[in-house]
Amino acid sequence: MANDIRQWLEELGLGKYGDVFVENEISVQALPHITDDDLKDLNVALGARRQIRAAIPQLNDTSARSLLEEAPESQRNESSEAERRQLTVMFCDLVGSTALSTRLDPEDYREIIRAYQDACAGVIARYDGYVAKFMGDGVLAYFGWPRGHEDDAERAISAGLGVIEAVGEIALADSETEPLAVRIGVATGPVVVGDIVGEGAAQETAVTGETPNLAARLQEIAGPNTVIIAATTHALAGGLFDYQALGGQSLKGIERSTEVWQVVGERRVESRFSAAHTTALTPLIGRDEELELLSRRWERAKGGEGQVVLLSGEPGIGKSRLTQALQDWIGDQPYTRLLYQCSPHHTNSALYPIIRQIEHAARFETGETADEKLDKLEALLAFAGQTPAEVIPLVASLLSIPGGDRYPLPDLTPQQQKDRTLAALNTQLAGLAVQQPVLFVLEDVHWIDPTSLELLELTVAQVEKLPVLAIFTYRPEFMPPWTGAAHVTLQALNRLTARDCTTMAERLSGESDLSPEILVQLVEKTDGVPLFVEELT
Ligand SMILES: Nc1ncnc2c1ncn2[C@@H]1O[C@H](COP(=O)(O)OP(=O)(O)OP(=O)(O)O)[C@@H](O)[C@H]1O
Ligand SMILES: [Mg+2]
Repeated sequence: MANDIRQWLEELGLGKYGDVFVENEISVQALPHITDDDLKDLNVALGARRQIRAAIPQLNDTSARSLLEEAPESQRNESSEAERRQLTVMFCDLVGSTALSTRLDPEDYREIIRAYQDACAGVIARYDGYVAKFMGDGVLAYFGWPRGHEDDAERAISAGLGVIEAVGEIALADSETEPLAVRIGVATGPVVVGDIVGEGAAQETAVTGETPNLAARLQEIAGPNTVIIAATTHALAGGLFDYQALGGQSLKGIERSTEVWQVVGERRVESRFSAAHTTALTPLIGRDEELELLSRRWERAKGGEGQVVLLSGEPGIGKSRLTQALQDWIGDQPYTRLLYQCSPHHTNSALYPIIRQIEHAARFETGETADEKLDKLEALLAFAGQTPAEVIPLVASLLSIPGGDRYPLPDLTPQQQKDRTLAALNTQLAGLAVQQPVLFVLEDVHWIDPTSLELLELTVAQVEKLPVLAIFTYRPEFMPPWTGAAHVTLQALNRLTARDCTTMAERLSGESDLSPEILVQLVEKTDGVPLFVEELT
């Protein structure tokens, strides 16, 4: 940031160039990319140019690190407590900014940097990350501090992909210029979040530890418009994205060789649970009664008395696992399974879980034309006996597929269009249920958007007379509006008993027998939450 570059120049006795560097948005980070010609363009005198060029290599090894590491003792505010926690750190850098800064006039360049910083800040905020620092064309952001989320690694990666998209869309005055591109590095690890350092606008929170440095190094090896992540981030984000393994890399300033991955894109996953469990599941422990309840509701639904089960419980308690257990129990009886997954990042995007389910069921692939997608929609919807000319325009519009002349959208008010779309979606469900029983699973309703919730109201009422078992899973913060109806059952999942936890830990540890003392400790620590048993065993 401005003060860092000024300070660096001061130390070289070249403080008088501070203004020129700041005006041209040259950060300490950008220094290694500065050429002698760049300095000439800034009217830096020959002797000073030599001095600067000689000082840059020394800075090179520590540039990003020194910016991130502990501030001098004198600047630290002793009063606030240092806090140790896991953080996902994102480092983002604009490609070719030095060239841009020399080609454009300073005012235009500043304008672009501002648009770039705004774009980054907007996307980072969308995923509830925290912009710790703008360093000219560099952006440092934290996910997990000051607010932590269970999916911070995932958020950082999504934000990285979002930043690439947003920055690419920045309108440039000069039409000849290539769209802007960024390099992004993401790493997760323990850090110490320390005190507020600096004063006024330069104030920031010192975060120390290897993680920010690693993120900065990963950003350096990233190609334009790519996100490179560390092994820790990769392990946490798991099956939600597609990756390309880049193997072990030796990074400047980091002793060991580091396994890194490039994020290829978001994967179309059916559910969070299936994305997180690509290998065999831990055998179901306990939950006999709950499973029995579900299977009885299934039998009743199959007989035409539709049922709704509201499955609630805290994170990691086993709602998704139990739903999976029911499917295993049903086995190969013929039935149609519809799986909907709400997303914490789309709590306000209308019908988000429905849209994703249709895209998944229709097997859309990236790069398909509108016509190819319409063909697939025809096949999907005709299967449930719907009249294509009526429903496809609505569903295509819902999925943002241009219907063109093939399926023109009739002239409707937004309200009419919504009502008809909801009706068409429910007709689809009824059409499927006529053919064979339907298991309708909606995961994580605490993240549902208002329009989907409206749809559910209709669905819950409609299900009563259909061979459908609907299971809605949610965490306790959600208050379902459907309780009380005869065909709706509430099932809260409680913690596992100490005995079940012990059994689970023993199964998980397999060969490596855990000592009785360790088992006791483990049961105590995990407090009956299966997710914690898995994590700690
Ligand atoms: N009874 C159980 N026996 C064995 N493993 C279980 C059991 N319950 C949960 N698990 C395992 O614990 C982990 C967490 O369970 P699950 O994902 O079903 O929780 P959840 O309630 O759906 O949480 P969330 O609110 O985050 O969706 C999973 O890996 C799951 O396989
Ligand atoms: Mg779940």
